[in-house]
Amino acid sequence: MKLLQIVPAIHEFPDLAAFDAEFRLTQRDLILTNARYDARYIKPAGLPCPVIFREQFGSSEPNDRMVNAILARKQELHASVPGGIDRIIAIGGGSIMDMAKVLAVAPEGTKDVNDLYPGMAELKRQHELIAVPTTCGTGSEVTNISIVFRSALGTKHGLVGDALYPVHAVLIPQLLETLPYHVFACSAIDALIHAVESYLSPLATPLTDVFGELAMREIVRGFAVVAADRAALPSLYGQFLRAAANAGVAFGNAGCGPVHALSFALGGKYHVPHGESCYQYFMPVLRFYKAAGAADKLARLEALLAETLHAEDGLNALAELLERILPRKPMSAYGAVEADVEAFARSTIDNQQRLLGRACVPVTLDVARGIIADCL
Ligand SMILES: [Fe+2]
Repeated sequence: MKLLQIVPAIHEFPDLAAFDAEFRLTQRDLILTNARYDARYIKPAGLPCPVIFREQFGSSEPNDRMVNAILARKQELHASVPGGIDRIIAIGGGSIMDMAKVLAVAPEGTKDVNDLYPGMAELKRQHELIAVPTTCGTGSEVTNISIVFRSALGTKHGLVGDALYPVHAVLIPQLLETLPYHVFACSAIDALIHAVESYLSPLATPLTDVFGELAMREIVRGFAVVAADRAALPSLYGQFLRAAANAGVAFGNAGCGPVHALSFALGGKYHVPHGESCYQYFMPVLRFYKAAGAADKLARLEALLAETLHAEDGLNALAELLERILPRKPMSAYGAVEADVEAFARSTIDNQQRLLGRACVPVTLDVARGIIADCL
């Protein structure tokens, strides 16, 4: 039984210049990022690399049309740069990581990311990928999965395989300093959900639990500080980045579960950001587990939360803390209507069995329907 796999080397630098000093970037290294990171950090650091701005290809979360257009642009650059593109450097949040992973594994000439799904386990690394997160949430810098909305299926789908692992994950607290508070809150809650879902997964091992517990404690402690004094947040960027990477190691091995499974229909239809759509179902799924009599592991989670938050009831204390970090809105606030309950429940059951298989109590169509209806 494999207890744990960590592929990327994990680095931390105070700023982008220090990263460049060690990695010696050249014009053959392609950066995928947002224009605002280029203006604020990349240009001032004098990096010589060609840059693709993801917003030139759309502002939503990744979909196949957007990824295909970026893939075509990368192939143009590959043909025009002397020697061709060598490394792919993703500087951004989860969407940029997801798209950069496709660039790193798509064989030359690939026109449609959908063509990669049938043989995804056999994909080969075409370029070394260096993942530099600018949020403290996805943990994507240490995982081998890319999530893309597939138009023909009408839902997000994971492209998964060893070739998708970044070779280096690079944590740079400086890059979080312009993160809007709302994005910080959503991404850190997403990281917490990664830690919790992987902890409760049937694939969890004693070693994934080490990373999951560490991430949970660091995020919950950090949230308690931020809830009391938001001005303290900048001093915690390094802590949240490391926690998100630790949670990524945990879920990269043990998987996420029904919270993520349920989130995709809401996120896909109403374009609710990933962390926010997961947050929608996080506490309802934990309360479902408790009501359904999930035993040992949930009890350990509750004890960890109670101890960390100095509270009697760990789940209630967590729910109260999260409300102070980011008040949760009903699904209707995003535009969801009664008819979405059935459609979302069926979409979850039909399309997300891989994630539902990591639930610690089975999530049936009835259960999914009940959770979604309560959130409306
Ligand atoms: Fe997530």
